[in-house]
Amino acid sequence: MGGRILSDSDRAAVLTNLFGAGLFVTCGRKNPNVMVAHTSTVGKLWGRDVFILPIKSSKYSYQIVSETKSFALNAPLRDMRDEISRCDVTSGFTHNKIEELGLHVKRARAIDSYVLGKNAVIVECKTIAVVPPESVRAEIDGLITDRSHTLFIGEPIECYRV
Ligand SMILES: Cc1cc2nc3c(=O)[nH]c(=O)nc-3n(C[C@H](O)[C@H](O)[C@H](O)COP(=O)(O)O)c2cc1C
Repeated sequence: MGGRILSDSDRAAVLTNLFGAGLFVTCGRKNPNVMVAHTSTVGKLWGRDVFILPIKSSKYSYQIVSETKSFALNAPLRDMRDEISRCDVTSGFTHNKIEELGLHVKRARAIDSYVLGKNAVIVECKTIAVVPPESVRAEIDGLITDRSHTLFIGEPIECYRV
């Protein structure tokens, strides 16, 4: 199975993880990394399916996604809360999280990344736009700070279950 738009059940798996323990986001091939996203948006924008991923510029994943213009969502279909909470507090600048968390990964199909190899919904995305915090016109106080996220607007190009 591959090269299809998110089915209702794939989207449900992504949202269940997003509103639950969190989603693994993988990126990079030469320098593969994994982070956890707890905030993001699934929807339609400019006539396209999109997944909007916020990443702080201090993160290693920010550098990789900026360079490769792609990332993959990995929504586990089994309980990975332990791996998620350990991933949450470790940076790829100093740790090889894929190895340390014992994640079984394989090459992504269409982007420069690895993805979980088993028990997951995989959504490979290419970024179609990037919104840095300084270009957001805040209409309430305190919304954007110097530590705010950049929004990477990704379009799903491959979606499959492993
Ligand atoms: C509750 C919680 C939510 C988080 N949400 C995000 C997020 O939306 N974007 C982000 O860039 N980092 C977020 N993080 C931090 C990353 O998951 C974490 O720092 C990760 O290990 C980043 O790794 P990296 O430096 O290797 O990219 C969150 C952490 C926690 C504890």
